[in-house]
Amino acid sequence: MNHPDFPAQAAVQAPAWVRHRKLVEWVQKVAAHTQPERIVWCDGSQEEYDRLCQQMVDAGTMRRLNPQKRPNSYLACSDPSDVARVEDRTFICCEKKEDAGPTNNWMAPAEMRATLDGLFAGSMRGRTMYVVPFSMGPLGSPIAHIGVELSDSPYVAANMRIMTRMGRAVYDVLGEDGAFVPCVHSVGAPLAAGEKDVPWPCNKTKYIVHFPEAREIWSYGSGYGGNALLGKKCFALRIASTMGRAEGWLAEHMLILGVRSPEGRKYHVAAAFPSACGKTNFAMLIPPSSMNGWEITTIGDDIAWIKPGADGRLYAINPEAGYFGVAPGTSEKTNFNAMATLKENVIFTNVALTDDGDVWWEGMTDEPPAHVIDWQGKDWTPAIGKETGRKAAHPNARFTAPASQCPSIDPAWEDPKGVAIDAFLFGGRRSTTVPLVTEARDWTEGVYMAATMGSETTAAAAGQQGVVRRDPFAMLPFCGYNMADYFGHWLKVGERLSKLGATQPRIFCVNWFRKGEDGKFVWPGFGENMRVLEWMVRRIEGKAQGEDHAFGVSPRYDDLNWGGLNFTPAQFEQVISVDAEAWRAELALHSELFAKLAQGLPKALSDARTALEKRF
Ligand code: GTP
Ligand code: SPV
Ligand code: MN
Repeated sequence: MNHPDFPAQAAVQAPAWVRHRKLVEWVQKVAAHTQPERIVWCDGSQEEYDRLCQQMVDAGTMRRLNPQKRPNSYLACSDPSDVARVEDRTFICCEKKEDAGPTNNWMAPAEMRATLDGLFAGSMRGRTMYVVPFSMGPLGSPIAHIGVELSDSPYVAANMRIMTRMGRAVYDVLGEDGAFVPCVHSVGAPLAAGEKDVPWPCNKTKYIVHFPEAREIWSYGSGYGGNALLGKKCFALRIASTMGRAEGWLAEHMLILGVRSPEGRKYHVAAAFPSACGKTNFAMLIPPSSMNGWEITTIGDDIAWIKPGADGRLYAINPEAGYFGVAPGTSEKTNFNAMATLKENVIFTNVALTDDGDVWWEGMTDEPPAHVIDWQGKDWTPAIGKETGRKAAHPNARFTAPASQCPSIDPAWEDPKGVAIDAFLFGGRRSTTVPLVTEARDWTEGVYMAATMGSETTAAAAGQQGVVRRDPFAMLPFCGYNMADYFGHWLKVGERLSKLGATQPRIFCVNWFRKGEDGKFVWPGFGENMRVLEWMVRRIEGKAQGEDHAFGVSPRYDDLNWGGLNFTPAQFEQVISVDAEAWRAELALHSELFAKLAQGLPKALSDARTALEKRF
């Protein structure tokens, strides 16, 4: 396998525990092309993780936090240009453009492969290529799928060990010829001989590319989050959604939680909110003390794979093993369980460093510390923040932490059978128009609600923030195929359930984010969202009342439990009201989306649109 520019090295030799010949050949081929200085076959051990982290500390990529305050934890600060997913650089390269649909960037596979060939040629020079085997879902379980990521970023290898089941055992499952999704990642910053590295290498040119037919992922130029940890959005959503379409299941941008009523009945809810719109918080909710007897357990906080079971019900699993969660806004008050999860063994990215070697971010404490080093390495004080508007932590600063450390983790979170879903929730970030909660009257109405959902953009993706856009099913950036076909797939899943005589999960649409004239959120949110969840559970049980309106059923003031919370009928009106004029404008936006997706849009949805218009 001698390549003219690539010195023959023993390192390409796979360890004895890798018995998959095709995998080894693929690694050799990619190495010959990208020309890393050495290859490390990750085994997933604690020793290996510790070594990777130490190397990054030595290289200046990470800083070890004060072990008294935050044992075995690190802070990484990225290049200021590499802080979030890059949606305009994300491509779905299927053979036919129509299969990617109008909401995805598309390029013909051959053309894209030629582009990538050029970019990846020698792109790992001077760096180590890590071979990172991972399982999405419990190792060896029938619902799990395996990937192997080749990356020249030690930060990626370390994060993947927290976010997925990563390591040697994956090869035992793969055996000599098991199927895996090949994922190649390069930060796109080759090093010349003797050249000094920077703390966070990346490239101005970025490509996040999916080949759904070949089930392959190629990512170039970014080292951050969903751009680089390829098991997450690239595999578990974009590629998996195309697998689900072919095989009759769903890959969704959803948290999964368990909710136990005071009577001891347990239900499971899967909820899709767009990026940075509250999934992690809702998944770890602690009910207010006045709602004694209700208990929430966490199964997943970002992604759900959902498959029909033999009994006709839908079963959901969390394919991930960790949380890559938004730091700003996370506090003991808003998300106690997340703060407890973050006590140790955490990688923080782009938060601020306190003078005693711990971390801080906006919203973590009521009072900011007197002085921190901000995420860009500059001095920051509350006065500087006020003067310049500069934040101590980047708005998309994140933590990577093992799911097993979450106090509210559900005992069944790794059950390969998954949990049976009783309700789906869809929710956007809308300061106006959309009521606190609405129940769809049937599956089609629910699919319509999810399909037409709008949300204000957040710091989770590069680009303008706070502008309302349609984000169907919170999957706009993550659906690996034509969105109109995806709507059809959802309708089909529902039809099949009803044909089997199974109860379809209820569908609700929520909005925690209505604002008053003062620009502040009217709804207290967080733990208080339990009041809305209680109403939903009681609806499922046939015990709660509501009021029919143009697009569903919403609670009246007296239909919710207000014990222990001072929230007036006037305030409730501000979060539940349906303004006819605002909704006519909203319907125009639904029409715009449907016009864009006209090719292949299911008739049931355009019919729902017409019916809705008549009701207004
Ligand atoms: P991704 O990881 O990007 O997919 O985000 P997510 O959907 O998991 O969102 P997350 O729970 O991390 O919340 C994002 C931001 O919204 C944080 O700053 C939270 O503090 C804030 N947030 C979450 N839930 C609520 C809520 O009920 N009300 C208000 N006002 N803010 C909330
Ligand atoms: C999101 O943006 O929805 C995230 C973070 O969960 S990332 O992994 O970057 O996609
Ligand atoms: Mn997410």
